[in-house]
Amino acid sequence: MHQFLPQAWFRGRCVPFAEATLSVATHALHYGTGAFGGMRALPNPADPNEILLFRADRHARRLSQSARLLLTELDEATIHGAIEAVLRANRPTCPVYLRPFVYTADLGIAPRLHNIETDFLIYGIELGDYLSPEGVSCRISSWIRQEDRSLPLRGKISGAYITSSLAKTEAVKSGFDEAILMNSRGKVSEASGMNLFIVRDGVLITPGVDQDILEGITRASVIELARAMGMTVVERPVDKSELFIADEVFLSGTAAKVTPVRRVEATDLPAPRPVMERLRERLTAITEGRDPDYDHWITRVRLDA
Ligand SMILES: Cc1ncc(COP(=O)(O)O)c(C=O)c1O
Repeated sequence: MHQFLPQAWFRGRCVPFAEATLSVATHALHYGTGAFGGMRALPNPADPNEILLFRADRHARRLSQSARLLLTELDEATIHGAIEAVLRANRPTCPVYLRPFVYTADLGIAPRLHNIETDFLIYGIELGDYLSPEGVSCRISSWIRQEDRSLPLRGKISGAYITSSLAKTEAVKSGFDEAILMNSRGKVSEASGMNLFIVRDGVLITPGVDQDILEGITRASVIELARAMGMTVVERPVDKSELFIADEVFLSGTAAKVTPVRRVEATDLPAPRPVMERLRERLTAITEGRDPDYDHWITRVRLDA
């Protein structure tokens, strides 16, 4: 059973979740002409009157950019204001996932992005571990990640998630936990809703932003953190065969956090994962507001303000 936050942001204000409903004729529902964000909000373990948001500025910027890719405007201040209003209206006491969504709100037909109303909503859902922190098995998908020349992949465009959905279900139905998608050039792109890293001979490697990936905020954070911790990080095309001989493979994302991959297709990967462990531990401390060096990555929303 899903546990939604009782109040959602809808048509410019907080309303009870059950009242935040759309018409069956809503344009975005039919054409996938929306874009969303996904950020975690965590009650501060050390202060019940404070909610911690990880890299809220980056999330707001990406959503605002996604809106521009849909040829509409949604400024970052509006996103921040609505997120804070939702948190104050709900006062969450457990970790939640906030889902802001900008979408074409007109009723009726004709796929287009001109002469059309857009709107913006947010709802929240309780979210613990999206993937098992112990590790996941991955199938290499028969579905290929879309290309930026057909679809703006720098945005989190809702219609694009048909490919993620097909890949995830194909993986699960064939006995795996997750899917790894190759891109149209035959290189590793990412998982259904996470970016991918491998470790080879102590070097952290991840497909570059030119490999049809979503520009993940966790990915960017892992890269920055790893470099600050003295690791060598290389962004370059990754071949499928490297997944089988890597010392470590792991996934990164807001929902998945940092999740190890324990098997790719029929190949079991080595169990000690020192690089992933170090990065995961540090990221957990940062997201829980326990790392003063990275306090600038955390937005603290006061509930008693
Ligand atoms: C397709 C896809 N790739 C990667 C990611 C990871 O991005 P982030 O770390 O910003 O959550 C997500 C999740 O939002 C995603 O949906």
